[in-house]
Amino acid sequence: MSTTSPRPRTGQNLTLRLLDRLERDSRADAVIDAVAARVRALPLGRGRDVLHGRWLGHPVHPLLVQVPVGSWLSAAVLDLLPGRTRGADVLVGVGLAAATPAALTGAADWAELHHEQQRVGLVHAVANTTAVGLYAASLACRLRGRRAAGRALGFLGLTAVGVGGMLGGHLAYRQASGANHAEEVAHLVGEGWHRVGGAADFPVGRAVRRMVDDVPIVVVHEPDGEIHALADRCSHLAGPLSEGAIADGCVECPWHGSVFRLSDGWNVRGPATAPQPAFDTRMVDGHLEVRLRRHDQED
Ligand code: FES
Repeated sequence: MSTTSPRPRTGQNLTLRLLDRLERDSRADAVIDAVAARVRALPLGRGRDVLHGRWLGHPVHPLLVQVPVGSWLSAAVLDLLPGRTRGADVLVGVGLAAATPAALTGAADWAELHHEQQRVGLVHAVANTTAVGLYAASLACRLRGRRAAGRALGFLGLTAVGVGGMLGGHLAYRQASGANHAEEVAHLVGEGWHRVGGAADFPVGRAVRRMVDDVPIVVVHEPDGEIHALADRCSHLAGPLSEGAIADGCVECPWHGSVFRLSDGWNVRGPATAPQPAFDTRMVDGHLEVRLRRHDQED
């Protein structure tokens, strides 16, 4: 399931070169694998999908990090103003309290990523953990009346959380962790019906991969005669659903175990937070035809 990162190109700035190097650096993979296995083994039950943000339709982690980052940034502003020390102290404490749920959601998502993403995610977590330590020390100094030290530690914490935020941005936008990897399907598949094969090409109980325009789809002929078709690339990280297990009217992604309902693509289990695009199907003259089910489609 691991992907290969592109080599650095001429003209890339130093930050991008360092981040590309970090993506390819496998030295911490043994640690990453051990920690990720432990996170995946936590008995969270349905709470795991709550942490992923399946209920929200996209990862919940970026939402939760607003609270500590916003609190600490506001505390830094108040630290620069005369007579606002008490408010800054409170905001530092609020940020520390909010860091735990943010970290939990991030850890749950991180455990289900490719190695290249996990390497960046690990450094992102180290930077943010450093920030938490610095802010905890800052709060302790503030409570003991050592205001100058408290402020200085706060500014160091803000620097660390800034580094963590930059890495989080790289992870989210350049490495597309957390993005819906099936979003482009509606833009690539043409309107109307598409012929994808003869009836004999789709044996009962087997997942068959076909192409519609430039989009791979998975077709499943169920024992009750129903034929279902979904976009093949999993919305989580584009894993091939046609290689997944079929059971109870659903397909399970072979990469991280997201489960999608065959009839409509609903993501009944994460880590995928977005459903899978679904296709209507019909037999015409012994050939299977599929049509992308669009939200604005009446029939
Ligand atoms: S690619 Fe991760 S669950 Fe499908």
